[in-house]
Amino acid sequence: MRRISLSDLHPGSVLAKPVYGASGALRLNQGKQITRQFLDSLSSWGIHSVYVDDGAPLPVVPEAMKATYYEAVGRIKVAMEILRRGSLVDAAALGSQLGEFVLQLAAEPCALSCLHLLRERDDYTFHHCIDVGIVAALAGKWLGFSGTDLLQLAMAGALHDLGKARLPLEILNKPGRLTPEEFDVVKTHPLLGHELLTAEFGPGSVVARVALEHHERTDGSGYPQGLRPADTLLASRIVAMADVYDAMTSRRIYRDRSPEFAVLAQLQEDSFGLLDPRVVGAFLEHVIHYAHGRRVRLSNGQIGRVVFIHEMAPTRPIVEVGVDLVDLMVRKDLSVVDEVDEE
Ligand SMILES: [Fe+2]
Repeated sequence: MRRISLSDLHPGSVLAKPVYGASGALRLNQGKQITRQFLDSLSSWGIHSVYVDDGAPLPVVPEAMKATYYEAVGRIKVAMEILRRGSLVDAAALGSQLGEFVLQLAAEPCALSCLHLLRERDDYTFHHCIDVGIVAALAGKWLGFSGTDLLQLAMAGALHDLGKARLPLEILNKPGRLTPEEFDVVKTHPLLGHELLTAEFGPGSVVARVALEHHERTDGSGYPQGLRPADTLLASRIVAMADVYDAMTSRRIYRDRSPEFAVLAQLQEDSFGLLDPRVVGAFLEHVIHYAHGRRVRLSNGQIGRVVFIHEMAPTRPIVEVGVDLVDLMVRKDLSVVDEVDEE
């Protein structure tokens, strides 16, 4: 570990100590990898030097997993660029290759935590396809999918946004908020994907239907058809959950490397009317256990440790704060807002 000035700090360096702002608020946690965006933020916060870890980088993703992941992202990227130019791709061959890759990745013990390390802000659309495939495959396994059904789900997850290849790039990559007219264009991607995939996999195929139905919501407020759950495939509802989860965790990637309580709590909230509660329940049940024993910050600023997770309300655990036990099932005015590194 050494202290270096901001002018010597390069993207890729890993913080060895947390960075605090002038008010004492935590800005960046130790272990955080510096990005170009962080470099700009650090100088705007008036910080002139930081401690960096000059040993091996902290995150460790198995090399084989990294290779498979980037291979999968590369394949979907090439396919979507071909489609964008107006040519056709062999979506059936692409789907089975991606399905195999996704199942291999989902079988890794660190699948979910490694996913958070592999994501990159660049090429979000392509990473998102593979990430959703992995999350959907994991959730599918936890819901009892296996064999061909699981492979179909993995393929459907990886290809769910294929229709985006036919959207104008200036809308797809627009950094700011979309206008209502632009959003109407984005809303066509399930139909475009469905059309492309029906041509390859046949009408009514799981892959084509998931592309069409992954933005439907359980209260009928989704698009493009405003369908209710009875009219959508379970695979579509799984991919819908994976899509929302991945979008939320990706937005948080530069703030925290693990799925946070706030993301999981939001998923649970969405299970009332938007996402299939059975799908969210199965996912939370498996994912939330990472939080056992973690140090967390409550919405009143207190820091404590998660000591018990309620089965029925996994995002409202009992937190030990000093000598007190704060049960968030009882203290509805409080919530977990963040995870805090060990001292
Ligand atoms: Fe989508």
